[in-house]
Amino acid sequence: MTLQDRHVAVYITGGIAVYKAASVVRGLMKQGAQVRVAMTAAATEFVTPLTFATLTKQPVITDLFRADNTAYVPHIELADWTELAVVVPATANSLAKLATGIADDVVTSALLATTAPVILVPAMNEHMWTAAATQRNLKLLQGDGRIIMEPATGLLAEGYAGHGRLPEPAQIVAFVQTYWAKVTGPLVGRRFLVTAGGTKERIDPVRFISNDSSGKMGYALAAAAADQGATVTLVSTVALPTPAGVTVVSVSDAREMLAAIQTHFADLDVLIMAAAIADFRPAQVADQKIKKTVDNDEMTLALVKNPDVLQTLAQTKKQQLMVGFAAETQNLLANAQQKLTKKRLDMLIANDVARADSGFGVDTNQVTVLQPGHAPEQLPTLAKTVLAKRLIEMITEKLK
Ligand SMILES: Cc1cc2nc3c(=O)[nH]c(=O)nc-3n(C[C@H](O)[C@H](O)[C@H](O)COP(=O)(O)O)c2cc1C
Repeated sequence: MTLQDRHVAVYITGGIAVYKAASVVRGLMKQGAQVRVAMTAAATEFVTPLTFATLTKQPVITDLFRADNTAYVPHIELADWTELAVVVPATANSLAKLATGIADDVVTSALLATTAPVILVPAMNEHMWTAAATQRNLKLLQGDGRIIMEPATGLLAEGYAGHGRLPEPAQIVAFVQTYWAKVTGPLVGRRFLVTAGGTKERIDPVRFISNDSSGKMGYALAAAAADQGATVTLVSTVALPTPAGVTVVSVSDAREMLAAIQTHFADLDVLIMAAAIADFRPAQVADQKIKKTVDNDEMTLALVKNPDVLQTLAQTKKQQLMVGFAAETQNLLANAQQKLTKKRLDMLIANDVARADSGFGVDTNQVTVLQPGHAPEQLPTLAKTVLAKRLIEMITEKLK
């Protein structure tokens, strides 16, 4: 967990979305962060400090002059303790004060004294958000190196839809985590490309040949790499929720997938091929839907071989660490070992897809990891998200 034991100061200012800040605090704590809270007077009009004191088991600072903790200068003590500050929700008023350096309450004073990175999560009425003054202040804050999370669009407290809504707490926690990983993670500066899903090989405009790959393993790997600070491109044939901090490139068939990888390949540190790429595609793609003809009981579909993606890339391989997956239903290890050698892979994840708890569609996987010059390492059945973290740790070790 990237936020484990990190000192995160959460500053709460007075907007209607204050109630969501409680979930953000809990979410950050679930990620292992130590959280301390300070609130403006306006924020305490919406939710009492007791809520945050109870959640964090820490006193909440609300008053510059009458703090009930023992620190001599509480706002400076909080600022010096902070490794990462998050202002959620950030009101238009507090943004304006922060932009100009006004420090007339505990929140603005502590933030002015904070040398740690500051993430601002604004939330306000759409017209307050688009107001020239607010936009000017946001530019100033960005220029000062503050990180701003864009508000969401949706139903506002006023009862109409608009831009300015606080993003959901889980999204805010993911944003904070991704930011922190991008600054401090062991994979900062490393470029990963992960492929996910089964390719769709067109027969006609409404039909295709594909396979059972759900893309879950690839998405979990992309998320785990981003969580450690890597710059991650995910080349995908499926539309699962985009993991925080990952750039998705959507493709459909094997040739599109190869082209998308080739665009990035020269600069990559790691390529993880978790997609199930079809070996063959229809020789002809019909322009129109193929009709059922009454007198024909059989139909023959001619297939041609798709390019072998790994072998094609291996020809221009330089620094790239190449990780493949082998989905097999029989002779798992023998077939996987052969693929490892033949395709000059640095790591191969062998996956027995005939098992009910492993492979396509399910949330768990049982794999054996093969590496040149190493004995095969069999891992227990794990949730794909947990397995992804383990594999990214192994890849991180290999990059050292
Ligand atoms: C019911 C209510 C809801 C409000 N919601 C917001 C809001 O979502 N965003 C905002 O910027 N201001 C909002 N305000 C206005 C702020 O509370 C006001 O500007 C206040 O001075 C902010 O103080 P602070 O920045 O010190 O917390 C709201 C005010 C009221 C009465």
